[in-house]
Amino acid sequence: MSNIRCIGIATGGGDAPGLNAVIRAATRAAILKYKWKVIGIPDGFDGLIWPEKSFELTLKEVSGILPRGGTILGTTSRGNPFQYKTGENRGEVRDISDQVIANAGKLGIDAIISIGGDGSQKIGHELFLKGMKIVGVPKTIDNDLSATDVTFGFDTALHTVTDAIDKIHTTAASHHRVMVVAVMGRDCGWIALEAGIAGGAHIILMPEISFTLKRVCEQIGGRENVGRRFTIVVVAEGVKLPPELKENRRASPVGNLLGNAIATGANKEVRISVLGHIQRGGSPSPFDRILATRFGVAAVDLIAAGGFGMMVALRGESIVSVDVAHVIGHLKSVDPQGEMVRTARAIGIGFGD
Ligand code: F6P
Repeated sequence: MSNIRCIGIATGGGDAPGLNAVIRAATRAAILKYKWKVIGIPDGFDGLIWPEKSFELTLKEVSGILPRGGTILGTTSRGNPFQYKTGENRGEVRDISDQVIANAGKLGIDAIISIGGDGSQKIGHELFLKGMKIVGVPKTIDNDLSATDVTFGFDTALHTVTDAIDKIHTTAASHHRVMVVAVMGRDCGWIALEAGIAGGAHIILMPEISFTLKRVCEQIGGRENVGRRFTIVVVAEGVKLPPELKENRRASPVGNLLGNAIATGANKEVRISVLGHIQRGGSPSPFDRILATRFGVAAVDLIAAGGFGMMVALRGESIVSVDVAHVIGHLKSVDPQGEMVRTARAIGIGFGD
């Protein structure tokens, strides 16, 4: 058993629905099960640069936050105490990790739950190697962490994107248009593939499958030939563009580039919807609330068991702990030959290949 009296909780990287559910669960379990004090660290590890900004998380403080999107602690996508950007135009880079560790000590924090994606887990691991007692909780709407079967936030994002595709369907059919729906996912196509299947998309373009504009236009034409005069194309932000479009990538977002190219190539009226950050917002789905709650409690139990340098994860039906050193940097891509893609192909969804 570890000798813990007080824990800190920090959320880092892009927010995801379910963060507050983890904060609530971890706080409640720490207080009710272990009688620990809990401190909320604002804006990821950046919060430990100014320890006076941290605040106590009580049962009252976390009451009512379960259904709320975002994070009551705040977050930052750029914070890294090992490469802290400061000075004029943030042009000076300093290692302030010692200061961060010392400030955690000043606050009386014995161990920290770091809730974040791959980047935050990497920072947490480096702090762990310097002696900080850290356990990780994985999060991202992109679902691209290989350590866990699923991350919370992904299911809610799927609901949001599927709902958007459903709405786009009716207007697409009425106007006989090609509708390009651009979705997030960073370098992986999970959101595009799963929301595309759930929303009945006709073409899905994603980083794991190379496509050509010619094939996309042929697939749209194939639908026209059988009287289907509208097409929904879901495109993941990380797609690898064919050479003819690559040059313009910097000039225009990927959805616009593709939409304009399809309008010319398929001679169709095209409209483009870039869903953007609405995919990260909203109230977490029941699945995400439950997974986040399980992760929060498991992280507290992991601290009690002295499992520092570890991260909680979902494997099958079980919550397990994995060594962060073995999982950072290992992203989980869609298998282009996998069952999910084969299922999509079997029902006629095109991938532009
Ligand atoms: O990782 C989550 C994510 O929403 C990605 O899907 C997207 O590429 C990125 O974050 C956007 O980051 P930001 O909010 O910093 O623009």
